[in-house]
Amino acid sequence: MLNYDLTDEQNILRQTIREFAEREVAPVARELDEREEFSVPLTRKMAEVGLFGCFVSEEWGGSSMGYVGYIIAVEELARVDGSTAATVAAGNSLGIGPIYYFGSEEQKKRWLPRLCRGEILAAFGLTEPDAGSDAQASRTAAVLRGDEWVLNGSKIFITNATSAMAGVVTVQAVTDVRPDGRKELSCFLVPAGTPGCTAKAMHGKLMWRSSDTGELFFEDCKVPQANLLGQRGDGFKQMMQTLDGGRLSIAAMGLGGAQGAYELALNYAQQRKQFGMLIGKFQANAFKLATMAMELEAARNMLYKACWLREQHRPFGMVAAMSKLYCSEVFKRVATEAVQIHGGYGLMKEYNVERFFRDQKLLEIGEGTSEIQRIVISRHLGL
Ligand code: CAA
Repeated sequence: MLNYDLTDEQNILRQTIREFAEREVAPVARELDEREEFSVPLTRKMAEVGLFGCFVSEEWGGSSMGYVGYIIAVEELARVDGSTAATVAAGNSLGIGPIYYFGSEEQKKRWLPRLCRGEILAAFGLTEPDAGSDAQASRTAAVLRGDEWVLNGSKIFITNATSAMAGVVTVQAVTDVRPDGRKELSCFLVPAGTPGCTAKAMHGKLMWRSSDTGELFFEDCKVPQANLLGQRGDGFKQMMQTLDGGRLSIAAMGLGGAQGAYELALNYAQQRKQFGMLIGKFQANAFKLATMAMELEAARNMLYKACWLREQHRPFGMVAAMSKLYCSEVFKRVATEAVQIHGGYGLMKEYNVERFFRDQKLLEIGEGTSEIQRIVISRHLGL
């Protein structure tokens, strides 16, 4: 049976988050972007409406809205503002995800309730200055000394790791060399403020300017053995599995951002007059908007199907990569044409559409570039 209807709960969720985003996020988004400022009060408000721990069960303090519900929430935030959606997407899939999926009972007890209440944020420590697309090339190392792991190295471009709300980061580190000569990689939970771990905010970003992006430095940073996540040597697989889910939230940001830019353009085309008529009446613009609407429809169907597969516990890695890639590219085309329809005004911050144009670019790079998504897809094809 094929059924495209969302449940009543999912429709109510969409409405709730849409109203929240329009009421709380839209009025401050441009100013936070201009000031390149991460907002703790706004993040706390998002926590109050259950935006952290979206897919976590109620047992651990989550909102238990399932993956489709989570993706709808991210989509609705991104419809208004990319940075705000990024804080939530990174906080959930990349931050909470590894602890929820791979954490011990003890680790879950320690972290999940506080993370789900949004008192603190979790971060995903994978990328390093020399290990971006090649995520196995980590140099950060962890050595077991007595009953402590001692970490040395650094991470870069880490979301949610440096603000006053930063609570814990999952760090991939080299723990040995495997019999096949490859690095043995393991993950560790490093609480913010652990001696030897310093965090530095990164500024001067093109996009997502009001999300918290930073560098982490580990200098003889000691964590107890109990902070190893899952089994020693499972780190890379944990990171890859986390990214399979995370890519769905990046896709949701593409879909939501494209929807937002499209609505701005549609609205403008129905108000702006040139040559004595509304510019939406010109086929040049009407066709652009028709193409946007078509691509949004295709993107939404692909993404929701990927989330549905995940909820059904079926393989979803390939469709997740496809959705991330496709939604990012749809957002690029929509944002570009949305600025074009706005003409000169589209270049001005006051019209907001330029922020969508800038925020879009991250989606072709973060959580695996478009090229990496094509590698993932082609490997699934057996190539
Ligand atoms: N799930 C589980 N295991 C997986 C897996 C997956 N999705 N993908 C690979 N693995 C396993 C493989 O089975 C293999 O296992 P064995 O060791 O048992 O053989 C192991 O991992 C190594 O696999 P590969 O040899 O295929 O790995 P690779 O080095 O060729 O890399 C890659 C594969 C897909 C290119 C990967 O490196 C990758 O995804 N790179 C991109 C990294 C990325 O997305 N970074 C984003 C960081 S987060 C971020 O960006 C945050 C932000 O913007 C907000």
